[in-house]
Amino acid sequence: MASHNQPNLRIPGPVPLPDDVLAVAGSQMINHRGTEYAEMLDQMSSNLKTVFMTNNDVYFITASGTGAMEAAVVNTISPGDKVLSIIIGVFGERFAEIAEAYGADVDRLNFELGNAADLDAVRENIRKNPHIKAVIFTHNESSTGVSNPLKELCTVIHEESDALILVDAVSSAGGVPIAVDAWGVDVVATASQKSWVSPPGIAMITFSKKAWAAYAKSTMPKYYLDVQQYEDYLKIGQPPFTPCLPAMFTLKIALQSMVDEGIENVFQRHHEIAEHTRKGASSIGLDLLPDPKFASNTVTAIRLPDDVDGKKFLSNVNDNFNVVLGGGQKSLTGKIFRIGHMGWVEKSHIDEALNAASETLNRMTS
Ligand SMILES: Cc1ncc(COP(=O)(O)O)c(C=O)c1O
Repeated sequence: MASHNQPNLRIPGPVPLPDDVLAVAGSQMINHRGTEYAEMLDQMSSNLKTVFMTNNDVYFITASGTGAMEAAVVNTISPGDKVLSIIIGVFGERFAEIAEAYGADVDRLNFELGNAADLDAVRENIRKNPHIKAVIFTHNESSTGVSNPLKELCTVIHEESDALILVDAVSSAGGVPIAVDAWGVDVVATASQKSWVSPPGIAMITFSKKAWAAYAKSTMPKYYLDVQQYEDYLKIGQPPFTPCLPAMFTLKIALQSMVDEGIENVFQRHHEIAEHTRKGASSIGLDLLPDPKFASNTVTAIRLPDDVDGKKFLSNVNDNFNVVLGGGQKSLTGKIFRIGHMGWVEKSHIDEALNAASETLNRMTS
């Protein structure tokens, strides 16, 4: 447990770390080209495959989540390829920008903020564009607290095309089920500072056989994020480049404890704490941004009353209650606040955050 005087960090990542994990993050460095590292990498790869329900290859990359998204793009597509980008918020737009930065021909399919992607609209779009090379989208849109129906989206995409499916699961993986093989997801990108109860520093990707076939044809320029480098070094139990060891150390512990707990139990725990957050918010008269049907199990987005200064609200909550809430991003700045509940989180953390929000709103509106 963290010490009592530490802030209740309730942003959607980086997540707070319990003291035992913090102690592991502070471990002495090791030789990343030695046997200890090789054993650690082997165990971590096997456990990550369990969490992702996959036999596909998995890779650990020293980067933030955006690095994993970029790895998905540069390893599978080529300049000029047609890419359908399904966008439900800030991070979906980021994925589109990455693909565009590398010269892909990106079509954006935008949905209103607070909504998930509409399956019929996706189907219709793909039917009109049969030559799509890849469909890219966010699983859990942290900026709006919305989870896209990943399984159903994959079904539609597979029914209508041979397109690759590249998914930003930065803020869902590890907290929400993703059956990579059963649903046919080609690349999943995530990052250590989210549900994985670790510091920032390590991005993780899964890479399917179909993604490898696409890799063979991809002419995209790449070096640091070239998945072949990670594959070649994996065979000798090493990272291609010096890894963020503190995050690797904690991820090793986190992955093992997720597998020991049982991944279904981990996902259920996330579902329950999310329900607790949503019910708690409505019991104090606050409205969620999303339709509850698509509300995220890792982050809850709550509307702020029109007459409340969002910036002042966040600083009051911080200053008076020692609770750190997430604000709105881009066009939602000042309009919502967000409570992260991924990784290590107890009901008391949520209750404290909701109480701080409620008290602050009362003071600001009375
Ligand atoms: C859904 C989603 N995608 C991508 C990112 C970007 O990750 P990073 O900041 O680690 O690059 C984030 C970070 O909050 C996220 O929540």
